[in-house]
Amino acid sequence: SSVSVFAPATVANVVCGFDVLGFAVDAPGDEVVMRVTGKPGITISKITGDNGRLPMDPAKNTVSVSVKHYLESIGRTDLGLDIELHKKMPIGSGLGSSSASTVAGLFAAKTLLNDQRDVAQLLPFAMKGEEMACGHGHADNVAPALMGGFVLIRSYEPLDVVRLPHPKDLWCAIVFPDVDVPTREARQIIRNKINMKDAVTQWGNVAGLVSGLFMNDIDLIGRSMKDVLVEPVRSMLIPGFYQMRQMAMELGAVSFGISGSGPSVFAFTKDEQTAHAVIQKLQAFLSGMKIHSESYVSTV
Ligand code: HSE
Repeated sequence: SSVSVFAPATVANVVCGFDVLGFAVDAPGDEVVMRVTGKPGITISKITGDNGRLPMDPAKNTVSVSVKHYLESIGRTDLGLDIELHKKMPIGSGLGSSSASTVAGLFAAKTLLNDQRDVAQLLPFAMKGEEMACGHGHADNVAPALMGGFVLIRSYEPLDVVRLPHPKDLWCAIVFPDVDVPTREARQIIRNKINMKDAVTQWGNVAGLVSGLFMNDIDLIGRSMKDVLVEPVRSMLIPGFYQMRQMAMELGAVSFGISGSGPSVFAFTKDEQTAHAVIQKLQAFLSGMKIHSESYVSTV
């Protein structure tokens, strides 16, 4: 038997919530086709859409490694599974590319095994994949990719994940400037000590954003999406970041920031038209700097 599973791209951090907030978009995303084989162990027979960048070796690929952890945890290492991974989103984009693949793989395995447990229980295995991909097992991409919508990682130890509501008329415009920003390095440049004054600003904003999500208050959401801790450092890796922010805000965006560790940027808007206007303007700006970009418009 075989199964085909899609998992979506995700925007982690949501500006002020470094490592604790993330949401899923409708598209892009990745697809895993998995089938049961006769021979114990995990194989990867095909990867498409990665320009040869991802390892086919099951010991080195985040999808197979996560699935292996999962099979071990449920005592089913007798099983043989073959993976086909179809990448349908850019790698190293800050859109949770490795998470989408890993989550699709874990969900495929769970489905083939007819394992009835809640999807959230797959999170620790997905986090293993993140650890392998960038050196840190953060959950703010894998949790929303698994559970959909907006997700808060209230705590990592113990793991406590909360689904949050969001206004239904919230749109997301994403632009991926094709420059190299590896998550591993984008994590290394962050300061690991912060000032009390900055901390106060940051947790005020996180609380404001979460309140806005519950209250359907898009203006409160916009006012709260400010980051004094991570963005000032990471924005240096994104060409024209502050100019892009100004352009997006002038076009009526609610907020603008880095998606995950970048280089993708995203804006929230109140309607689809504004989202399209934002991506058009930003893509024209990037192409003026000879930077190729890709863009996506989605509801949240
Ligand atoms: N929270 C992670 C980071 C997300 O900002 O490094 C990476 O996609």
